[in-house]
Amino acid sequence: MKALPKVSLGVFPTPFYKLEAISATYGRNIWIKRDDLCGVALGGNKVRKLELLLAQARQQGCDTVFTTGGAQSNHAMLTAACAARLGMRCILLLKKRGVTDHRGNLVLNDIFGADVRFLDTDRYEDIYAEMDRLSAELAREGHRAYAIPVGGSNPLGALGYAACVEELAAQAGAAGARIGHIVSATGSGGTTAGLLLGAKTYLPGVKVTGIGVDDDPFDTIVPQLAAGAAELAQIPFALEEGDFSMVWNMGPGYAVANEEDTPYIQELARREGILLDPVYTGKAWSGMLRLLQEGHFTGGGDVVFVHTGGAAALFAMDLPGA
Ligand SMILES: Cc1ncc(COP(=O)(O)O)c(C=O)c1O
Repeated sequence: MKALPKVSLGVFPTPFYKLEAISATYGRNIWIKRDDLCGVALGGNKVRKLELLLAQARQQGCDTVFTTGGAQSNHAMLTAACAARLGMRCILLLKKRGVTDHRGNLVLNDIFGADVRFLDTDRYEDIYAEMDRLSAELAREGHRAYAIPVGGSNPLGALGYAACVEELAAQAGAAGARIGHIVSATGSGGTTAGLLLGAKTYLPGVKVTGIGVDDDPFDTIVPQLAAGAAELAQIPFALEEGDFSMVWNMGPGYAVANEEDTPYIQELARREGILLDPVYTGKAWSGMLRLLQEGHFTGGGDVVFVHTGGAAALFAMDLPGA
């Protein structure tokens, strides 16, 4: 893969190990890749993307970073954290939806010194238009702004997760894991796209399953992002039958906790000491275990769950049925 500029923000490699108690309960070797422990704020998948995106921002001479998301966006919070570390100003244009009280990630955004503004719209097009307007305004004052799309999910950001698979392949070799499947939450698509490209490149034959937590057409978005990332990295990418599957476990809606996930969240916490959030990883984890029981993970091999962070949501909403 062509090496693209990166700034070092996280602590990598993140831990990778077998979940012994869970593997025994579900009768399959289940491993976890702890990207929730990546050393920035409460951890999470956005840091690998931001190492590439913010390197590009610096290369372009930008001093201000914009991004967007829902009110409790983990991506926005991690952008605030990483921008602050690099001495860049961070402006978060968040959708005025969901938990807008000063809880969870909104508390953390303030700690990291972000300028948080709410926009009363459901359309990201409106938010990107506002970013363009603000960029022009800042340019007149002598500043240069870099706009990061929702979730950091463009081809450059997705490459962070191809690199994650390179890391994982080395760890699996050392630990004796025989990986057959990699599973993660899919919220805007970049993480799953990177995992797919990384699996094709570093772990050929390994299948990637995305668990959708929003109702976007990720079955087309993910391969498109993966192809764009491959082009940037100047490597081949040809999707074959069975390489990738997309399954949704959205429950009552995006960012709405689902009571059916609560027992799975409790089980992982109580048996392995690992926290999942009700918006992303809780839905992905419970979706994965249900798929396992339904025989989705065919062809043998161990299953790897990529823990993508998100713990701040536990301080913004209750787990239904707990
Ligand atoms: C905790 C967590 N997990 C998973 C995801 C999904 O990743 P992606 O947006 O790359 O699909 C997100 C994204 O917002 C997230 O915050």
